[in-house]
Amino acid sequence: MSLSGTRIEVMRYVGETIDASIDQFLKPIENYWQPADLLPDTTKESFLDEVKLLRESCRELSYDYIAVLVGDTITEEALPTYESWLMDMEGIDQGNPNSSWTRWIRSWTAEENRHGDLLNKFLYLSGRVNMHAMEVSTQYLISDGFDIGTSRDPYRNFVYTSFQELATNISHRRTATLAKQAGCNQLSKICGVIASDEMRHHKAYKEFVNKIFEVDPSEMMLALEDMMRKKIVMPAHFLRETGVKLGETFAHFSDAAQRLGVYTTMDYIEIAESLLLDWKIESIGDLNDKAQRARDYLMALPARLRRVADRTKIPALEYPFSWIAA
Ligand SMILES: [Fe+2]
Ligand SMILES: [Fe+2]
Repeated sequence: MSLSGTRIEVMRYVGETIDASIDQFLKPIENYWQPADLLPDTTKESFLDEVKLLRESCRELSYDYIAVLVGDTITEEALPTYESWLMDMEGIDQGNPNSSWTRWIRSWTAEENRHGDLLNKFLYLSGRVNMHAMEVSTQYLISDGFDIGTSRDPYRNFVYTSFQELATNISHRRTATLAKQAGCNQLSKICGVIASDEMRHHKAYKEFVNKIFEVDPSEMMLALEDMMRKKIVMPAHFLRETGVKLGETFAHFSDAAQRLGVYTTMDYIEIAESLLLDWKIESIGDLNDKAQRARDYLMALPARLRRVADRTKIPALEYPFSWIAA
């Protein structure tokens, strides 16, 4: 089947087909975790002792590790930017609260909202973070917004979210492993449960793109090509601190993540590769000439990125983040 109409028609059609399957990508609120389940209980007599243990368990976490965890937390805390962005996509009618798309965006936001909440509370208790400096960065980031190159196009946005959800799954998984190695099991569990949410979200967005490929393959291919040509920027790419230029703190955060191996250039390439594979880009039919050329570009992209990646150097110097407690 093919739909030759506008994005809005395609979104209406795909919205109807995903209605039944949205729930498989979400967890029931009542039975799933909340941040409080993974943190010391303030109503308990043992609260202060548990906090003491938590602080001790954080002592061995490295400088770069804390910096990366703060950057991850701020990225999660900028959720208002992401929700308002998605709600504004072409084909989304926020005035219709029962449509599958608005239901998905609200439920996704509700799940995501726990990530920043949980990480923020943990960092607050850890004693390793200058919370005021971190909160300044969070307020700046939400205030600065982002520029992810998708405009209001749902096709480009779903490429972006498919990519990003996998990127966050990888980075939270790695911070979980590193926390365990440093003897911080509670933090490891926290990062692990967040990572598993990100994987479900990744699968959902990937499925939305699959459905669009079924009905509008050429336009979907061109949208994917456009996003990959521009490169997928991180949602916190405008990250800054007091007295630091827009985006400059992000570069240092990204260097720290590379040094730690939490999120690297190779991960970027592997995510791109896995998306091409999962969306079966090589064998998608019914493409117009332009979309066929876009496919050729995409299929050759991972090898090209690998050649460039070999030449990229990661700065060895630690940068003095204002976020880290002295
Ligand atoms: Fe998240
Ligand atoms: Fe996410």
